[in-house]
Formats: sequence, structure tokens, C-alpha cells
Amino acid sequence: MHNTAAIVFRDGTTRFVKVDKNELLMDAAQRHGVNLPVDCREGVCGTCRCLRESGDVDVEYIDEEALTEEEIGEGHVLACQTRLRSSQASFYFDIDSNVCSVATEVHDGTVSAVEQVSDAAAILEVTLDDPAQALPYLPGQYARLEVPGTDEWRAYSFATSAVKEGRLRFLIRLLPSGVMSDYLRDRCTPGDAISLEAPLGAFYLREIQRPLLMVAGGTGLSAFLGMLEQLAEKGECAQPIRLCYGVTQEQDLSELARLDALTEALPDFAFDTIVMNPSEAWRGKQGVVCDLFDLDFLAQPFDAYLCGPPPMIEASKHWLEAREVGEHRVFFEKFVSS
Ligand code: FES
Repeated sequence: MHNTAAIVFRDGTTRFVKVDKNELLMDAAQRHGVNLPVDCREGVCGTCRCLRESGDVDVEYIDEEALTEEEIGEGHVLACQTRLRSSQASFYFDIDSNVCSVATEVHDGTVSAVEQVSDAAAILEVTLDDPAQALPYLPGQYARLEVPGTDEWRAYSFATSAVKEGRLRFLIRLLPSGVMSDYLRDRCTPGDAISLEAPLGAFYLREIQRPLLMVAGGTGLSAFLGMLEQLAEKGECAQPIRLCYGVTQEQDLSELARLDALTEALPDFAFDTIVMNPSEAWRGKQGVVCDLFDLDFLAQPFDAYLCGPPPMIEASKHWLEAREVGEHRVFFEKFVSS
């Protein structure tokens, strides 16, 4: 019987390690080839400090020289003194993965389906070649895919909560011209070999203790599809969730049926859409995604998750800073389509 710990590094590299009952996080990581910084192993020096971001733990001893009361209150723990008490937990280490001799993991896969889901987006489904191969990730994280027939790699968020029957899905923006866009439109065929490096990124759900504002720009929606699916599957999220989804043209709106299904599957989830440059036929909302933010909803403490192009992220952050909204944390993932 074991639990699973996600160890996330500052550079976004993540490793999942199995932690035996009563095993220390430090020991489990070393057993998996993740050499976390260590010195005293006694809870005194603070070298192995990290931030518990989700899950329950027991911490044996923390010397006052290792962590302050304030740091402990924020959720910092010591890997050499920490045991898991829940089946899953995640820990953030504010160091780069290469410090811990963590090698990049590249997986071999095969294109199993490709579907254009809007004028500007496609769903790419990849099946891992080795069915026994584990590729755990935290919804919201991303993979780098090698564009078949090229030496180019591009990054895309996972669009599902986990690998299911060996399959992964990605919601990918189709540009008028771009190495992945051209491949998907012109050459992509089920059976194509495709490599992926994963999991990457520090954009994932932290412990949910208050309402969530999710802000998606374009195919930034992909990350939220994975997060929301995970919450629906777990059935544990009683907090209200509001997703604001903005696109450039109405043809860019994707996966609305899936979002509708999630409103049924989650106890208090709602989403709204807005289009920046719609056609004359558009009868929905016109504007930028911040125009969807609801001051009444944001009057309470909340966590904000933003995923989309850099201008959208910056505009959302500025909007929240400039208004009298509740106390909040902001997590974001910027991406540039290419
Ligand atoms: Fe010194 Fe953990 S190694 S506190």
C-alpha cells in the first residue's frame, strides 16, 4: 500500500513518487532517483524545505531554526520529516530540477485521433506506445510534443484529468501558419509516431479552500478542461467555480458541450463566454475576458487561475489589482501560440 507524492520544481519539472506507509518523503524521492537537497536529516537545517500544496501529512519535527512559525503557517514542511497521510499530495521545491539530478522524461506515443473542433482549434489524441508506462501529471500541467517529421517541439496543456486507457488529449490552436498547425491540418494521420516530454509546468490546482475564478483565453481552456474533469471525477469540490472564457472570434469557441456537461457534473460550476471581434451575426457578449468578471462573486476571498496569451494574463491581473476584490492568490500559465 502506498501513497503518491508530486514533487514540483521551480523550472516546472514534476516527478511523481510512490511513498510507502510511514516512509519519509525524502527517502521515497531518493528511492526514485530524485535527490532532494539534504544536510542534517534531523529537521534542523531547513535544507530540505518545501511547500505542501495539497494533501495531508504528518511532520515529525521542525526546529525553530529550520522554519519560522509564519512559514509553517503558510504550509512549508521539511521533506526529511514528512510522511503522507493522504493518497495524494503535492510539494513545491523552490529549486531547479537539475540540482536534484532529475532527468527529462521523454515518452513515445502514436497519434490515435485528430479532430478539428472549431475553426481555430483541434483536439489531438495520443496513445502511449507502452500501455504499462505511467505518465502521471497534475491537470493544468503541459507536455512538449515533437511535431512529427520535424525537429520542432511545441508545448500544450493536457485537456483531460489523467491518462485514460493509455490515451492523452490536447486542445491545440490552429494558426494560419505554424509548424504544428500545418502538421495537424495537412499531414496528421492516425498511426503517426509522436514523442512527448512531460509532465511540465507549475500551473495546477492547489488545495481548494475557497471559491475559484478560472480565466481562459483561447486554447488556454485546455488546462481547465483537465482540472474541471478531475474535480468532477473526485466529487469533492463544494466550492463555487466560475470560468470566464474569452476568444477572438466566435468560431474560436471550443468544447462548449463539454463545459455544459461539467456544469451538470459539478455542484456549483458555471461558465460564460465572450468574443473580442465577433461577426455581425453574433448574439453573445462582446469584449475582453475581464468584462465577464463578477464583482459580487469576487468580493469574497478566492483563488484565481489564469491560462492564456500574455496580454490576457496581464490584463486580468491588472483588473484584479485595480478593483476592491476579496483577498486572493493568482496562479497563471502564459503561452504564446506558435
Ligand atoms: Fe536538514 Fe531536512 S535535511 S531539515
